[in-house]
Amino acid sequence: MAEKAAKSRAKAKKADDTPMGPTGRPYRGFPIPAPLKSHGPARIIALCNQKGGVGKTTTSINLAAALAEYGRKVLAVDFDPQGALSAGLGIQTHDVPTVYDLLLDTKRDAHEAIVHSNVEGLDVLPANIDLSAAEVHLVNEVARETILARVLRQVAGEYDVILIDCQPSLGLLTVNALTAAHGVIIPLECEFFALRGVALLIETIDKVRDRLNPSITMDGLLATMYDPRTLHSREVLERVVEAFGDDVLETVIGRTVKFPDASVSGVPITEFAPEHAAAQAYLRLARELVARGAVA
Ligand SMILES: Nc1ncnc2c1ncn2[C@@H]1O[C@H](COP(=O)(O)OP(=O)(O)OP(=O)(O)O)[C@@H](O)[C@H]1O
Ligand SMILES: [Mg+2]
Repeated sequence: MAEKAAKSRAKAKKADDTPMGPTGRPYRGFPIPAPLKSHGPARIIALCNQKGGVGKTTTSINLAAALAEYGRKVLAVDFDPQGALSAGLGIQTHDVPTVYDLLLDTKRDAHEAIVHSNVEGLDVLPANIDLSAAEVHLVNEVARETILARVLRQVAGEYDVILIDCQPSLGLLTVNALTAAHGVIIPLECEFFALRGVALLIETIDKVRDRLNPSITMDGLLATMYDPRTLHSREVLERVVEAFGDDVLETVIGRTVKFPDASVSGVPITEFAPEHAAAQAYLRLARELVARGAVA
């Protein structure tokens, strides 16, 4: 009896000693990814949520930079006519070839539009407002859902990972991104209504899997703009974990003004404030995705 009590005390102590992450699972550090001996072919990941302002672009920029920091060759594709990813990486998009030109003329060499960013190992396929006309132009194309896939095929061999920053819609551009992708990450803001629309998004991913891209996988839901001081943020995260279980990535991105500040400066957070918890969070996300096998 005494032995049993001692055992259960030991167990309780162990539980107390293990720091819990915000998703209610033990906080794991994830190992530093081993360097790659050779590069490519890329795993393509779409960052997707038709809800606006949930952290798709911020995650695309900073995850891309974090993976580049671990020696991965990364291409970030700006697939939003707002061009926020391009701007956030300090890339000028006026009067240059963009992803739009490649979509309209798939015979055009994709390398023409790809630019190096200031981050070593991170290239960008930029977009500008022209892309807003793409849906209209592509609607009568043959195999209109697979056009981006065909563009990316030209360069996939040269990268380890390609991240596609989708626009906040479930239209033809997003379907193109989902058709080109091996996996999808859904950023979710820890706010009321975070889950509103996610069912429709998952339905869309299921349709794409059925009809266009049978092997697309869910790489994870990423909680963003989490504020541990508010009960509200904690409750929303709890509900997300209840609904999606292990599909919720263990890494959670906290809310901080460092992100808007970094965007204005046109650099990722890992360069703007490398020691800040926010930069560390995206580095941890990169390590978690490697540990999960979503990235080489
Ligand atoms: N973790 C965070 N903490 C605080 N602010 C953030 C965080 N992540 C993103 N933001 C800010 O929230 C705003 C929306 O983020 P972001 O542009 O990444 O979202 P999005 O999903 O790409 O938006 P859209 O749907 O318009 O493309 C931006 O001003 C960004 O700087
Ligand atoms: Mg965006």
